[in-house]
Amino acid sequence: MANKIKLPGLIDVHVHLRDPGQTHKEDLLTGTSAALAGGFTCVVDMPNNAEPITTVERMKAKHALAKQKAVSDIGFHYGSLGDNLDTFEEAAKYSVGLKLYLNNTTGGYMLDPAYLKKIYAAWPQDKVVLLHAEEDFIDVAIESLEGLKRPVHICHMPNREVLDKIIGAKKQGLPVTCGVTPHHLFLNEKDADKLGVYGQMKPSLKPQSDVDYLWENLDWIDLFESDHAPHTHEEKKEGAFGVPGLETTLPLLLKAEVEGKITRSQIIDKCFTTPARVFGIPTDEDTYVEVDMTPYTIKNKDLKTKCGWSPFDGVEVPGKVSKVVLRGETVYENGEIIATPGSSRLLSEK
Ligand code: DOR
Ligand code: ZN
Repeated sequence: MANKIKLPGLIDVHVHLRDPGQTHKEDLLTGTSAALAGGFTCVVDMPNNAEPITTVERMKAKHALAKQKAVSDIGFHYGSLGDNLDTFEEAAKYSVGLKLYLNNTTGGYMLDPAYLKKIYAAWPQDKVVLLHAEEDFIDVAIESLEGLKRPVHICHMPNREVLDKIIGAKKQGLPVTCGVTPHHLFLNEKDADKLGVYGQMKPSLKPQSDVDYLWENLDWIDLFESDHAPHTHEEKKEGAFGVPGLETTLPLLLKAEVEGKITRSQIIDKCFTTPARVFGIPTDEDTYVEVDMTPYTIKNKDLKTKCGWSPFDGVEVPGKVSKVVLRGETVYENGEIIATPGSSRLLSEK
């Protein structure tokens, strides 16, 4: 273990693995391979597929694909446009949480906020509702929490304005949690200018003063979520929102640790302990990750994500995942996926 560190298998509750429907840019094998390569042994996939996961049949079809292809543990969030509340009871048996989009983003599955209260009442009270609510929808999102007892998670805090409103809600004792993405912690508006189309995502990158505010208020941020959102080069040129993140999140956080911006225990808390607790994800002592703390440079050509690029191409980081063990079995070692596709665990299988 010379120069190696050991971490628990990390959990990412916010990824877009595009399968079924858009497997030209990612699928459940390449996406979960990217997860292992980045030290994540469990991911939860979002419902904004080419056909949104808003029916029990589509949810079951996704499970069937995962049973053939997944190499990391995986669960799924269900979706709603307000017209499928009668499916919630059955769908919830197959779901980790319910994701609702108040803003427009990939897929265009925007929910009218007038449905929020009815949806909160219909979705099982012990399962999380996740909201995509940017500056223009954060007030309506916060208002919807009033008097609520059920858990609501607000995704990807981009800036001071949105985070301050969440902090206010938390101070009132409302049952809300929030996450932040690595791109909102490690990139700013100026990087967006340099990256061009590769720096476009929802929410967008913000001024460095907002980035600094997120770092200063880490204690209010419950968890890190990569929002791994692969798109092809052609799609990016046409304006697609999103960047991949599964393989770069942990190395970037370790870089921040070396720079004194975060502690090891905060990394473990926000990439493992808290996501497991908030989303009810089981953990095992014999599921862990070894990181070889030899500096390396992130390179597009080394990535397992099918899209084959990262906004962090060329960034030097202090370590790289060298081995991943899932319930006692080595599933990844020195760049190679060893797990048999379909051998990992599905969360929330009926
Ligand atoms: O940048 C983003 N990409 N933000 C989202 O909310 C969705 C995601 C995607 O699915 O491409
Ligand atoms: Zn997302």
